[in-house]
Amino acid sequence: MTGEESPALREHVVSKASRPVFDTSVAHQARVYDYLLGGKDNYAADRAAVEAYLKVDPDLTFSARANRAFLGRAVRYLAAEAGIRQFLDIGTGIPTAGNTHQVAQAVAPESRVMYVDYDPIVLAHARALLTSSEEGATEYIDSDLRDTSTILTQAASLLDFTRPVAVTLVSVLHAIPDSDDPHTIVATLMDAVPSGSYLAISHLGTDLLDPDRQQELENVTGRMSQQQYAYRTRDQVAGFFEGTDLVEPGLVRVEQWRAEPGDDSTRRSSVWCAVGRKR
Ligand SMILES: C[S@@+](CC[C@H](N)C(=O)[O-])C[C@H]1O[C@@H](n2cnc3c(N)ncnc32)[C@H](O)[C@@H]1O
Repeated sequence: MTGEESPALREHVVSKASRPVFDTSVAHQARVYDYLLGGKDNYAADRAAVEAYLKVDPDLTFSARANRAFLGRAVRYLAAEAGIRQFLDIGTGIPTAGNTHQVAQAVAPESRVMYVDYDPIVLAHARALLTSSEEGATEYIDSDLRDTSTILTQAASLLDFTRPVAVTLVSVLHAIPDSDDPHTIVATLMDAVPSGSYLAISHLGTDLLDPDRQQELENVTGRMSQQQYAYRTRDQVAGFFEGTDLVEPGLVRVEQWRAEPGDDSTRRSSVWCAVGRKR
């Protein structure tokens, strides 16, 4: 059954107007994140936003890097321990070290990865994601996460929705405000994949920051960015995993999820994460 044919498919079509247009005069999440990771695909407005965020949350650089490290550990777990060979990676970001297909194909070269992002700068760099191993495959969809119908229809050209798929929504759901019903968006994606599929999420945590800091961060975002940051509580993040069983160690801060020897255990990020297996 393809995503398109799924009887449970609920449509979430949004106007393209809500997607970011290429504009170097305001910060974009993809470029802000690139700067936090030490990349070069960012502009003065992105760097100014990071400097403003860091005044409110000095641990933001640690949070971004710990988040990226979680993505790597989660994909490695999914490929090596859970036996997953198909990935739907939504909110891909500007390509950097350890992209999903590189991590998955290092374990299982036949892995197939469909990337999705809506920012024109990620599209401009998408070629760097289309460097699959011969045995596997990678493709890229230029789409908004809220347009689940387009994503599932196009993903079905690469992924077999009768077999388990890992849906990775790493550091992207905070870009979806409650008014766009992110829980229904996630449920729609997970309805389209069979039992034994996985969901990996990381998400900025309201309850990992004190309330004053959170308000200040939202003010900075409002002034400097085209996109919002909706922080959510641990319970709200747990709600995304309805219908799944969380794998060990459950819902924790990103740096705590299957931390490896030598990882810095003295710092605290402001990002929740978990990986769940669909029942
Ligand atoms: C912080 S980056 C995360 C990159 C990668 N997942 C990681 O964790 O390393 C967030 C990405 O999500 C993308 N994004 C934000 N809102 C989105 C939406 N509604 N649809 C698709 N992509 C979105 C941004 O353009 C950006 O590239």
